[in-house]
Amino acid sequence: MNQTNKVNVPDIQLEQVNIFEVGPRDGLQNEAALPVEVKIALIDQLSATGLKQIEAGAFVSEKKVPQMANSGQVFANIKRHQGVIYSALTPNVQGLEKALKHNVQQVAVFTSASEGFCQRNINCSISQSLQRFKDVIDLAHAHNIPVRGYLSCVADCPYDGPTQPAQVAELTQVLLDMGCYQVSLGDTIGTATPNRTAQLLDAILTNTPSTSIAVHFHNTYGQALANIYQSLLMGINTIDSSVAGLGGCPYAKGASGNVATEDVLYLCHGLGIKTGVDLNAVARVGASICQTLNIQPASNVTRALQCKIRT
Ligand code: HMG
Ligand code: MG
Repeated sequence: MNQTNKVNVPDIQLEQVNIFEVGPRDGLQNEAALPVEVKIALIDQLSATGLKQIEAGAFVSEKKVPQMANSGQVFANIKRHQGVIYSALTPNVQGLEKALKHNVQQVAVFTSASEGFCQRNINCSISQSLQRFKDVIDLAHAHNIPVRGYLSCVADCPYDGPTQPAQVAELTQVLLDMGCYQVSLGDTIGTATPNRTAQLLDAILTNTPSTSIAVHFHNTYGQALANIYQSLLMGINTIDSSVAGLGGCPYAKGASGNVATEDVLYLCHGLGIKTGVDLNAVARVGASICQTLNIQPASNVTRALQCKIRT
């Protein structure tokens, strides 16, 4: 073989990754409030695609995030598929108690690696948030409910500027020590680039196994897939994503949706990594919810597939 044709492809050791679908929560919290039946239909459709983790709602202040106000009704009416875990955000014991009433199987606490975002998002300091989470985690564990932890603004904060990787590494460890089974690293405003993702993961993975970490990239600057590729190279095997790339965050102006689930599936399958999820089925769900919302899918893959179907 001609030496010049030789390509050195970086080695990804993963055979399988877990896709954590956040569209019904992170996606819809930033779209116009939807009737409960539409949300239920979306979750039911996603449940039939092979996804094993679906974040279906949030038990947060209705005044702050009215889009999530009907989460209880959502949980009461979805058809729960065997093997699919339906989870919700619970910022405090009040939220967890509501989640327990609706038989939520898994919950998530969420704080920030930056003080500015923490205050705006959950109205307290980082240390106060951790204090609140102690009771949430204890009560959840008493009911055998696993708790996930989110850290926002792991690269940059819209109020405080750049975040130090050491700060993220320290808080990740604190959340794991408190009993979170996994910490999802939120690039809330989508500003990270692969070199910064590598530095961040390097700081975290010195002390923490990659299986305890998930990545949660918003695609505001179009860098999410590049950051995910970097994360896969470093052994991260849980990727958060949102069908059709829906959403954003009400406390991060201009932040666009999460990376689209369809685009992550296309990347992983192209790399020979299994996900257990049917890309075409997710793309159909993505096209359908976008039609309902009267928006174009942010997913390049869904747009490409739609054109293929049309021609
Ligand atoms: P607080 O503002 O500190 O106030 O709440 P409070 O505890 O004193 O309560 C004030 C009012 O909220 C009271 O009602 C409470 O009953 C009510 P009032 O007496 O005024 O009528 N309340 C609740 N209502 C329903 N469910 C609850 C609850 N707790 C209190 N659980 C709190 C703190 C965190 C609840 C509030 O600030 C809040 O809900 N913030 C919204 C947070 C949110 O949902 N943000 C978006 C999701 S996070 C995100 O998108 C980032 C992520 O995707 C990762 C990333 O991308 O970076 C996860
Ligand atoms: Mg998010």
